[in-house]
Amino acid sequence: MRQDSNHSRVPDIRVVRSLEEFPPGINVAGLAKFLHHALKPFEDSLEDIERGIMDCLTAKGRRGGFLLIARSRRKPVAALVMQRTGMQGYVPENLLLFVAVAPEQRNRGLGRLLVERAVQEARGDIKLHVEYDNPARRLYERLGFTSKYAEMRYVK
Ligand SMILES: CC(C)(COP(=O)(O)OP(=O)(O)OC[C@H]1O[C@@H](n2cnc3c(N)ncnc32)[C@H](O)[C@@H]1OP(=O)(O)O)[C@@H](O)C(=O)NCCC(=O)NCCS
Repeated sequence: MRQDSNHSRVPDIRVVRSLEEFPPGINVAGLAKFLHHALKPFEDSLEDIERGIMDCLTAKGRRGGFLLIARSRRKPVAALVMQRTGMQGYVPENLLLFVAVAPEQRNRGLGRLLVERAVQEARGDIKLHVEYDNPARRLYERLGFTSKYAEMRYVK
């Protein structure tokens, strides 16, 4: 933790661009478990979250993905996963796959801080999926994300 100018406690935010850069005490499985819990009720399966983290850091030919991990006492209190899509123009270069703040740390501006930092760190445009009824939608809109298209899927 560090003190900000208002003397409130602000968790450190670590940018992780490879498996070697994980902060001490946190690994892929631990981060996936944290996200699986903190994303509720909008969580993906643990397996998909792990796959997303691995893809973000190790996908061949799509370098530039990263994680943001905010820690307090060596434990994650918030995290964000940004993948490279490998595309450009008609599809944005980056996909903000997950962002979550531990329930007891919410409504203090940490979610906003992470998304703002992610926008700074990412090269190129960013897309994300958010449920229509997820309150996070308002946060994204306030930070400048717009919604021009409805996402449609054909599920096989
Ligand atoms: C979405 C999420 C990441 C937001 O994190 P957060 O740290 O609570 O976000 P912020 O504090 O930056 O902003 C949230 C609200 O608190 C308010 N807020 C921000 N700073 C504040 C402060 N210092 N004091 C009081 N309120 C504050 C914001 O105005 C915002 O209000 P509103 O959205 O109700 O209008 C978090 O709620 C979460 O983890 N949700 C579950 C997972 C999820 O849905 N993730 C997104 C889908 S992938």
